[in-house]
Amino acid sequence: MSFHYKNGYLYCEDLRIKDIQQQVPSSPFYLYSLAQLEANYAAYSHALEGMDAFVGYAIKANNNLTLLKRLREMGSGAVLVSGNELQIALAAGFDARQTIFNGNGKTLDELRLAVEHNVLINVDSEFDLAHIQQAAAQLDKLADVLIRINPDVDAEVHPYVSTGIKNSKFGIRNERLDWFLAEIRNDARLNLVGVHCHLGSTIKKVRVFRDATERMVEFIRAIHAEGFRLRYLNLGGGLGIDYERTGEDIPTPRALVDSINDLLPEDITLIIEPGRSIIGDTAVFVNSVTGVKTNGSKHFIVTDGSMAELIRPSLYDAYQHIQFIEPVIGKVETYDIVGPVCESADFLGKARELPTPDEGVGLVVCDAGAYCHAMSSNYNLKMQPPEYLVDGDKLTCIRRAETLEDYLRVFDIP
Ligand SMILES: Cc1ncc(COP(=O)(O)O)c(C=O)c1O
Repeated sequence: MSFHYKNGYLYCEDLRIKDIQQQVPSSPFYLYSLAQLEANYAAYSHALEGMDAFVGYAIKANNNLTLLKRLREMGSGAVLVSGNELQIALAAGFDARQTIFNGNGKTLDELRLAVEHNVLINVDSEFDLAHIQQAAAQLDKLADVLIRINPDVDAEVHPYVSTGIKNSKFGIRNERLDWFLAEIRNDARLNLVGVHCHLGSTIKKVRVFRDATERMVEFIRAIHAEGFRLRYLNLGGGLGIDYERTGEDIPTPRALVDSINDLLPEDITLIIEPGRSIIGDTAVFVNSVTGVKTNGSKHFIVTDGSMAELIRPSLYDAYQHIQFIEPVIGKVETYDIVGPVCESADFLGKARELPTPDEGVGLVVCDAGAYCHAMSSNYNLKMQPPEYLVDGDKLTCIRRAETLEDYLRVFDIP
């Protein structure tokens, strides 16, 4: 209960969000609970206790450096999808042996960086393997690789976040496995250490993980039969969270691990790579109401936050719960909550039954820790919002607000 109401006001841990809103210099902003982050990570570490396994936190979900350092201190590894994510993982102090570099379009520069730092690298395609070979040759260094298999398991999620079905852009064509094995065998600088798959995000059925594990274990056996000795099964696929607040039964990390544990071969280290289920419900996106309007048939609450700072509703038609941070007693109407961006796609929520707020009232978009700040943009020249972390009754700024001055700096070309 890191976010909870007391006397009609929303709190983050021991702090009243209205007080924070009045105290900080700009709006909108992101507000995180450290206690929630610790609880979410602990759910994974407890589920994996006693197993040969580690968590690779998916930095793509949220790359705030302070939060990354906290996760690293809790024992997490990291899953990366770009060279810059690799750099920030190093800056946060992650152990390179617990970092895995994924991606269907890794560049040679990024791969050189990964080889240089002994990061595990997932092979996605023929050209990706060739680039890894080039990077290893240029540095005259060994590269530890995993093959990204496409398990062709339907995660039953929005098509934009489904990654493990046959027509996905990710992973090798499984029929070509022998070719990949031969190439790797013939290159003394490549060391095949495992297999990887990724199923998708917002998964709500553990059966999906079990089906994929069964398939992956078949691949491990087939690769062992070719004389390789694999060390890692990197099982990617993210659990959903209760965005809709329906109280539906969403699998816990323990349920995920229990669903696959009996299938895991001996001498294999399991790597799981959650993002959303670790960071998603640790934050709210705090807005101030700019005004309320109607077009005759529809009612709108216009906020200072928008699709530029939180794009999931516009991009995926995603639902995120919206609530006021203080008592509001106006007439209840059905509202679309929209931002100031010059796009009809700019909305944070649609058709919400809410009391009519006065200007300046605080409103939060819940579960805003994952894929929200990380996906923010400067569209309409909106500046990226600041982030604050609450630890009990302590508030710390963990990313300052971007300023127009910061933005204009990139144009300083003689
Ligand atoms: C390769 C990879 N790993 C990890 C993740 C994290 O998934 P989630 O945030 O759903 O846990 C993703 C997200 O799509 C991904 O593509």
